[in-house]
Amino acid sequence: MNVLGIESSCDETAAAVVADGRRVLSNVIASQVDIHAAYGGVVPEVASRQHLLWIIPIIEQGLSEAGAKWIDIDAVAVTKGPGLAGSLLVGLNAGKALAFAKGLPLIGVNHIEGHIYANWLIGREPEFPLLCLVVSGGHSDLILMTDHGEYQLLGRTRDDAAGEAFDKVARIIGLGYPGGPAIQTAAGEGEPSKIRLPRAWLRNSYDFSFSGLKTAVLRLVERLQAEGKELTVCATGGQTDKALSVCDVAASFEKAVVDVLVEKTRRAAAAYGVKMVLLAGGVASNAELRQRMAEELGITVQFPPPRLCTDNAAMIASCGYFRLKAGYRDDLDLDVWPNLKLV
Ligand code: KG4
Ligand code: ZN
Repeated sequence: MNVLGIESSCDETAAAVVADGRRVLSNVIASQVDIHAAYGGVVPEVASRQHLLWIIPIIEQGLSEAGAKWIDIDAVAVTKGPGLAGSLLVGLNAGKALAFAKGLPLIGVNHIEGHIYANWLIGREPEFPLLCLVVSGGHSDLILMTDHGEYQLLGRTRDDAAGEAFDKVARIIGLGYPGGPAIQTAAGEGEPSKIRLPRAWLRNSYDFSFSGLKTAVLRLVERLQAEGKELTVCATGGQTDKALSVCDVAASFEKAVVDVLVEKTRRAAAAYGVKMVLLAGGVASNAELRQRMAEELGITVQFPPPRLCTDNAAMIASCGYFRLKAGYRDDLDLDVWPNLKLV
């Protein structure tokens, strides 16, 4: 069964064709990152206008790169939320119109659930019960998954999402947007033990909190400025009387985030006796997080390649396939749901 997936919840316009929920036949992503970089973050109105321009050409490319014609497509899966309302509307209405015109079943997909299903597009098929850490620009959720569509929330962020913290800290230390990849690159040249930053352990809870860490970096930079010092661009061993290396700050921040994510995931995996751990969402493409999870958890840890961690439509098609198989389908009155929750 071939499912056409459509994704437009934020600043990526994407279309993909996936066979039987697991085999990627095409995965086309048009990123607006260069357009929004000038503003230091996603501008919703600009994003939805750009989706309008790109959505049809991207869907056509998704079909042609899969070598598929409409006759080969069995269903249309489209992101219904969460996300930016104006952005979601473009993909959802394109999906509804195409499903209606071609007489295909339509299935609205939760974007967060889609991120989890990126793990069905790789390697070995995930086995239940499993633990999934969803870390993106909008979410940091630790979720127990006992079957397809069966989720139990163990913990979530009480303030900033992990990706949001990466983006905000990158802006504070002058690394620009998008922050996650920029911090990862700078951290690679830095020394993570140079600067002491706080970790919110929130005892006896699987919840996270990253805003105190972000504020600690802000105070560090403010203190530096007040003392007439500056942040230097990544000179190795760059901490002098006059300057602090941006790379050392990036490495220390990245380590603080990863320490907490790894430790809470490790504890939850042991407490619930899961068979494996899945990583999902844009922050799951972070190399340090992937490496430490694989090394320190003591059970199988699976994560998609970076292109399937950040927003894409293949994950939406995969999730749509499993929901269709479970008997779900939507009518043409399907609407966007900007604040949709998974659990
Ligand atoms: O899943 P995603 O593409 O979009 C949302 O649904 O939010 O995640 C985007 C987030 C951004 O905050 C971005 O900075 C972060 O993922 N990100 C990373 C990395 N690549 C993307 N964070 C840390 N390290 C990375 N390599
Ligand atoms: Zn996402």
